[in-house]
Amino acid sequence: MIGRLDAPLKVTGRARYALDNNVPGMVFGYVVLSTTAHGEITDMDVAAARSAPGVLAVYTPFAPLPLTAPVTAMLGPIWVPLQSTDVTYYGQPIGFVVAETFEQARDAAALVRVTYDERPASTSMSDGLATAVDAPPSLDGSPPALSVLAPGVESIEDALAASPVVVDATYTTATQNHAAMEPHSAMAVWESGKVTVYTGNQGSDLVASALADALGEDHAAVRVVNPFVGGAFGGKALSIPAFLAAAAARELDRPVKAALTREQVFTATATRPATVQRMSIGAEKDGTLVALRHDSWSSTPAGGGFVEPTSHGTSREWYATPNVAISQKMVPLHVPPTTFMRAPGEAPGSFALESAIDELAVTLDMDPIELRQRNSSTAPPGRDLQWSSKHLDECFRVGAARFRWAERTPRGRVDGDCLVGVGTATAMFPALRFPASVRVTLHDDDTAEVATSGADPGTGLLTVLSLIGAESLDIAPERVTPRLGDSALPPGGMSGGSTATASAGSAIMVAAPKVIDDLLALASGPGAPFEGDDDVTYADGRVLATDGRSLTFGEVLRAAGRDSIAAIGSSAAGEELTKHSFSSFGAQFCEVRVHRWTREVRVSRMLGVFDAGRIINAQAARSQIMGGMIWGVSAALHEGLEIEESGRFANADLAGYLLPVNADIPEVDVEFVQYPDTLHNPVGARGLGEIGVVGMAAAVANAVHNATGIRVRRIPIAIEDLLEQ
Ligand code: MOS
Repeated sequence: MIGRLDAPLKVTGRARYALDNNVPGMVFGYVVLSTTAHGEITDMDVAAARSAPGVLAVYTPFAPLPLTAPVTAMLGPIWVPLQSTDVTYYGQPIGFVVAETFEQARDAAALVRVTYDERPASTSMSDGLATAVDAPPSLDGSPPALSVLAPGVESIEDALAASPVVVDATYTTATQNHAAMEPHSAMAVWESGKVTVYTGNQGSDLVASALADALGEDHAAVRVVNPFVGGAFGGKALSIPAFLAAAAARELDRPVKAALTREQVFTATATRPATVQRMSIGAEKDGTLVALRHDSWSSTPAGGGFVEPTSHGTSREWYATPNVAISQKMVPLHVPPTTFMRAPGEAPGSFALESAIDELAVTLDMDPIELRQRNSSTAPPGRDLQWSSKHLDECFRVGAARFRWAERTPRGRVDGDCLVGVGTATAMFPALRFPASVRVTLHDDDTAEVATSGADPGTGLLTVLSLIGAESLDIAPERVTPRLGDSALPPGGMSGGSTATASAGSAIMVAAPKVIDDLLALASGPGAPFEGDDDVTYADGRVLATDGRSLTFGEVLRAAGRDSIAAIGSSAAGEELTKHSFSSFGAQFCEVRVHRWTREVRVSRMLGVFDAGRIINAQAARSQIMGGMIWGVSAALHEGLEIEESGRFANADLAGYLLPVNADIPEVDVEFVQYPDTLHNPVGARGLGEIGVVGMAAAVANAVHNATGIRVRRIPIAIEDLLEQ
């Protein structure tokens, strides 16, 4: 095991994030946001701002920067600012002030006077349910509603009606923001008709091509650099400051730096939708599932947008049941754009499904682990492809022993002034792979480089590249320099969907044998040390001749007069998708202590046991999962944007938008059962970036029920939800 390569840089402040790039002559941009949720801007008086000290330009929809909405494969058309006078949410970017200093830009922005023709705004999820519409097809092309019914069963309602035991309940989850430590920001520098944009993101080549399209420039003219990213979580696919800084820098012929303030991040980016989910589960008296219905509503922006795929992400796949029906509706509101956020679908979806399963266990007076194991799926219902490798039962077994689950009582226990309860939940997250290309270079000093454009937004990918590179080249990891976060490198896809290790890792395992083949050809070619030896081999960083002689790869390169030799390997998901279903699995456990009088909930113990195939870097894997589990506690007890009737977020700052701090989180115990999944990819690793959050909110709520007897069906759980009736 090696420590995280970027850790010393980060803890000593030497890691250079987007905003840490300074160049002579740079100026500063400040974004102006709307103060109404719906309407048309009829006038923007910028005279005072324009004549304020240091101001170079004030851009508005009436004096816009030229930007064209790019269309991306993953996100569809991307909204770009200042191209229209329409306002569809409170906090929408409507202006951009550029000045010599940050303070001058900020102060001038406060002088902009905006006149709106205001229209009624629809901002309430509960009111909006009445006008919900079908969601568009999900990313995999599935229709918003689908069902799999046993032969002879007419409808899911019939299957539920015929079930001896039924649980029927509705759950709600809050709007959330990614709240990454690093605000969305950019530094744009033009030189000789080409621009370099330093901006934290999840895939530099993808951002570079979207920026090029938006700016109307050649793709070769735009380079995006982001070696370090201060958190992304799905929310940094693109950013408003990057569009505005790049366009303004071109207009002004000055480098432009721009960042959102913390408060602006909450609206001028995108959020996880709020959801309402109705679960109906029918079972036999022994707990065998008969029918599962999961109807879901997701908030979206007014014109539609990303829909949180809660039911698709969970109930469609998690349990063996002869009858399953899911649906997905959207509730268009005058709220900021919605987008992917860590475990999109599975995180809020698992709160509903895993709470409902717990309710069924209570109704049946059955151990919730036994109920889950009884209904464990060998393949997703309706899809005959078996899981490639599923060890969820073992996760529960290992977890139950480690967590002392056997000490649980159906009604919790009392310890002094605390009501103590435990809860559990299943976690699943699909194992995916995106196309990725990686360049592996051998240098004449016996070091190697592994390079790809993708991003390490804190996941540990950088270190993983060096580990898989070292293994593939059969040398020590210290000799491998990983490079990431530059669109000029081979396209490495994005850090999203928990795919990066499997995607980039597989590409390394294609590139490394290629470069080794080229090295062997070089070593045995004309004039080379092992000329004519057709059976040279490679091991331990050395080329071995059949006569017993050997040279390091650096020695071979030096003998050949070469500085380096490189090969690019590419990998993508392929025919394995027609043979198996792929998912990571986990069992979440949590203990809560609810204060009998104040009703405050504290999580006192947490354990997650995961099956994510092979673990490449135990330390990084544990940290990823731990972070996810803390997210789950946060969703259960802390996080949620409060939307006022006006559409303004009441708590758009880190004082009001509660996130857990160290005092909220006990020791987090993480364990892995390790079964390398080489049916999924040659590395054998499945994703684990997102699964840690999945199920945890339900585990907390289930523990709260165990402690108090109160079933809370909305998150975040508030003290008032736990007042005795
Ligand atoms: Mo992540 S929500 O897959 O970018």
